[in-house]
Amino acid sequence: MERTLAILKPDCVRKQLIGQVLDRIERAGFRILALRMTWLTREQAEAFYAVHRERDFYPDLVEFMTSGPCVVMALEKENAVADFRALIGATDPAEAAEGTIRHQFADSKQCNIVHGSDTVENGQKEVAFFFGEGEIVRNRVGVM
Ligand code: CMP
Repeated sequence: MERTLAILKPDCVRKQLIGQVLDRIERAGFRILALRMTWLTREQAEAFYAVHRERDFYPDLVEFMTSGPCVVMALEKENAVADFRALIGATDPAEAAEGTIRHQFADSKQCNIVHGSDTVENGQKEVAFFFGEGEIVRNRVGVM
């Protein structure tokens, strides 16, 4: 089993798409291990996206990610990282394949509805960025 971090970004929350996007995620077989609505501080957004610090879009990205509440969640599935990226589609919704979440709901590279970890290693790091192990709930098929 693999873990990945998903963020339903401020545009997703503003457009009242939390339920529809969660539905897509659950239907695709992801188990939600932890989930929290939060409003990122500037410090959190800067630290989370530190890898993009030198990119020209970084200031706007931080601004956008702190512009309203978002929903952070830890997801689990076999091949979770790659499967989640396939489910959400390319960063630019204009390039996202039909049937992907970004193709369906996203407006732009910045307002692209959802974040997914890009590597297995980053999946672990990003889950740990938001959730302590004590917040990760066991959620298995068949467990009552
Ligand atoms: P995300 O998966 O959250 O990871 C980094 C984010 O930076 C990405 O989604 C986009 O929202 C944003 N991003 C990446 N490239 C660009 C770009 N060229 N212009 C604006 N935003 C970008």
